[in-house]
Amino acid sequence: MIGIDPRATVQRCPACGHELAETDPRQRCPQCSGLLEIRHPAPAATGAALRALLDARCGNRSGPFVSGVWRFRELVLPGAGEDVLSYPEGNTPLLARPSVAAWVGATDLLLKHEGHNPTGSFKDRGMTVGVTHARRVRATAVACASTGNTGASLAAYAALAGIPALVLVPKGRVALGKLTQLLAYGARTLVVPGDFDTCLDLALKASEQLGVYLLNSINPFRVEGQKTIVLELLQQLHWEPPDWILVPAGNLGNTAAFGKALREAHEWGLIRKLPRLAAVQAEGAAPFARSFAEGFARRHKVEAHTVASAISIGNPASYDRAVTAIRETNGVVTAVSDAEILEAKAVVDASGVGCEPASAASVAGARQLVRKGVIRRDERLVAVLTGHILKDPDAITRYHDGATPLPPHANPPIEIEPRVAEIERVLRALG
Ligand code: F0G
Repeated sequence: MIGIDPRATVQRCPACGHELAETDPRQRCPQCSGLLEIRHPAPAATGAALRALLDARCGNRSGPFVSGVWRFRELVLPGAGEDVLSYPEGNTPLLARPSVAAWVGATDLLLKHEGHNPTGSFKDRGMTVGVTHARRVRATAVACASTGNTGASLAAYAALAGIPALVLVPKGRVALGKLTQLLAYGARTLVVPGDFDTCLDLALKASEQLGVYLLNSINPFRVEGQKTIVLELLQQLHWEPPDWILVPAGNLGNTAAFGKALREAHEWGLIRKLPRLAAVQAEGAAPFARSFAEGFARRHKVEAHTVASAISIGNPASYDRAVTAIRETNGVVTAVSDAEILEAKAVVDASGVGCEPASAASVAGARQLVRKGVIRRDERLVAVLTGHILKDPDAITRYHDGATPLPPHANPPIEIEPRVAEIERVLRALG
């Protein structure tokens, strides 16, 4: 488009090629309503020089580069300058847990634990960029629809920025840890009868008609922040990519972000080969897996029902972007049952790591794909755990102390009389 500096970051519609300036607050392409994508100019350094620049920042003890998002500033939001709004976030661990790898049936499985972010989920990586940008466009209020984590993150970053936040949540479908975060961080929490998809439709209309700045992952600046999950794990692996990256998939913002991160990392010489992406949905909320099974011939919508409330989404907004991500990485999409998700979660939890139910979809998906022979046992896998164990305490008590018969990894509490002999009895039973 005329008037936009080719060396500047722009927002571009991948569907029709229309471009908008970086600070244009519109959330969709004005020509075809497609979702926008951020295009940065190529960084001044690429390949080994860019790797060295990014690695040198790991030793910083103050300033924006302490963040595991802003360390990658050239690839995220080069124009952000010093005015970034950061906790800091990111710098999450990449963990090897032999008991989890054995359950999956893989020899080399790593867990990238995004639950270690400030509000307990990967959403903080997108939100630091999204709220930083909201300030650049002088937003007077920010909003999102959420199954809980996006809202918790938005609420916290909006509080940091001093901007009022509205969070629309589906009534009765938000896990306790997340709902309490919304209230505590001070967001206006709007409880809507219906599901996540109803909330997102309403939030979109509110942003168009009332001018509140929408921070769902259709916002391309969120995607830029979430790319750093992949950039950081590549850096932790000394830029030697794994064979597979597995990610739980709901609204498909992360799947889209992972694909973009890998495309750019390859284009700018950070890595030489592309890992394959595996997006894992819950069977009761698997429209993307269904489309994949049909070669992406058409887009599906479903009524979502799953124990993994974070990914209970029937009409994923980032569908087109995610199709690109799966195609470009020769990836796969699959679905796992609630029972598989809960068993995977129990195994991850019992390894001392812990995660919320939706997060465990990546591990359940890894096991399923190894069993099907799609993934070889000796390939290197990174499964992303997207949220913290304490996000959904009810799911834990239901599994360990609620169901009859008790599931395979249940660890119910044991009531005892206040006598040492009772403890001795328990100790003996341990063998
Ligand atoms: N895992 C967790 C813990 C999530 O909270 C979400 C999404 C996902 C996975 C799926 O990521 O949507 O990018 O495919 N949670 C959103 C929310 C919908 O409102 O917190 P996605």
